[in-house]
Amino acid sequence: MVQSTGPKKIKCSVFISGTGSNLKSLIEFSIKKNSPISIELIISDNLNAKGLKFGKIFKISNKVFNYKNKLIAEKKIISEIKNKKIELICLAGFMRILSKNFIKKFKGKILNIHPSLLPKYKGLNTHQRAISNSEKYSGCTVHFVNSQLDSGKIILQKKVKINKGETAASLAKKILIQEHKLYPKAISKVFNL
Ligand code: GAR
Repeated sequence: MVQSTGPKKIKCSVFISGTGSNLKSLIEFSIKKNSPISIELIISDNLNAKGLKFGKIFKISNKVFNYKNKLIAEKKIISEIKNKKIELICLAGFMRILSKNFIKKFKGKILNIHPSLLPKYKGLNTHQRAISNSEKYSGCTVHFVNSQLDSGKIILQKKVKINKGETAASLAKKILIQEHKLYPKAISKVFNL
């Protein structure tokens, strides 16, 4: 467990690749008075990630790294994170797989949100796979990141019903609404709040 050190907020970096709606909900959570975290840095692998706009809106610095060479990209990210004394990394729609070396360096300090009820439907295309398998429920999971994809210790999950005629798009929308509530709750749980 990550330990909160008194009233000082935990310095957090959020990694995104796209829309950043989870980033937005985490920022809104972080600026609440009793929130355990402050978001100091947004990291992306995608210069065109829509979510980068939240950095500007909320005046949080953001850095984009070219992932053509993952090793170099990660080296730069690590140095950025160390410079800013980041204590917690929240993956929020970050569509790159972190290297084993990276994960080892921040062991127990990386969280991820995944749009399925893990351990079911690891990886991509979760909503369509759940529908195609005639699942009655899907949902979302916040978990610690370990060296195996979407396999670290589960912190919290939220179930969402799959209706008749549900499409991947409609399910994604419903689940995303729950993701926005689940991620802050999971962070509070990690810090025993
Ligand atoms: C979210 O549904 C998140 O769970 C998923 O990408 C979406 C990002 O949305 N993450 C993964 O699939 C990770 N494997 P957002 O950019 O609006 O937060």
